[in-house]
Amino acid sequence: MSVLVVGASGAVGGLVVAGLLERGERVRATSRDPRKLSLPDEVDVLRADLNDPASFAPAAEGVDRVFLYADLDDPDPLIARLVRSGVKHVVLLSSASVTYPGAESDFNGSRFLRIERAVEASGLDHTFLRPGGFASNAARWSWSVKGRSAVPLPYPDAVQVPIHEADIADVAVVALTGDALLNAKPVLTGPERLTLREQVATIGSVIGRLVSVIEQTEAESAAMLSQFVPEVWVRQIITDWREAVGATPEVSDEYTRITGRPSRTFRTWVTDNADLFR
Ligand SMILES: NC(=O)c1ccc[n+]([C@@H]2O[C@H](COP(=O)([O-])OP(=O)(O)OC[C@H]3O[C@@H](n4cnc5c(N)ncnc54)[C@H](OP(=O)(O)O)[C@@H]3O)[C@@H](O)[C@H]2O)c1
Repeated sequence: MSVLVVGASGAVGGLVVAGLLERGERVRATSRDPRKLSLPDEVDVLRADLNDPASFAPAAEGVDRVFLYADLDDPDPLIARLVRSGVKHVVLLSSASVTYPGAESDFNGSRFLRIERAVEASGLDHTFLRPGGFASNAARWSWSVKGRSAVPLPYPDAVQVPIHEADIADVAVVALTGDALLNAKPVLTGPERLTLREQVATIGSVIGRLVSVIEQTEAESAAMLSQFVPEVWVRQIITDWREAVGATPEVSDEYTRITGRPSRTFRTWVTDNADLFR
């Protein structure tokens, strides 16, 4: 049987494919546009769209485990399709936002909860990976670091625990290759609390150049962010920053418990992606 990785073009999905191949697994990978995938010949590549369950008739054939992004509108037809195809275990890239107070009514928490609940209701074995904010969110700063050696921010003292996408992929690979995480819902974070200001300073330190923070208003920040992300996300990001000023978000040790290794630091993420900022 193969493992199906849906969204192999994604930062996490691509690393899940690589981790499974390292473990000698037979891998099938999908994208809505497979032409953009560049994977070893041994990977079986197919087109599939989470919002078009019929596209999973060929993609899920002969597959017993699936890695899934939660970016879909109606989970039930897709999950029914996976069950009919004989899939046994779904590993879903969810979000820590499902654990926050008010998740049911929150835009971000509720969209992941809906998918988690549909998977649970199906009776499929499942693992819900619940990461907090990604270190890769800092990639949005690349142009201002490159152009101005400065990052405009409305709430530079917002505290986060940024996680390297490779840590999420490592846990996904553990979940997909054994029973250790059957029906588990690990909350995953990076190893340390960092303000946005400290993250900007880390980027400067890694690229060997002073990078400063320019304080901006929420309106200025919204105008800037809307060049990169949809409006609904702009509001969510700014609200999250505002609420994270002076906060002490949870630092999870689940990554180490599951893999036996220390979590990758934000500095490691910046080092791995330094060309974004040079
Ligand atoms: N950024 C954060 O702080 C944060 C925190 C918690 C959770 N998350 C969640 O983590 C995910 C982002 O992870 P990432 O950085 O690895 O993403 P990414 O690099 O942006 O890749 C997203 C992947 O999702 C796939 N995808 C999206 N819609 C799809 C659809 N309709 N059908 C099939 N595949 C679809 C894409 O595949 P194709 O385009 O190739 O089809 C792509 O491979 C999102 O779901 C996000 O909500 C993010």
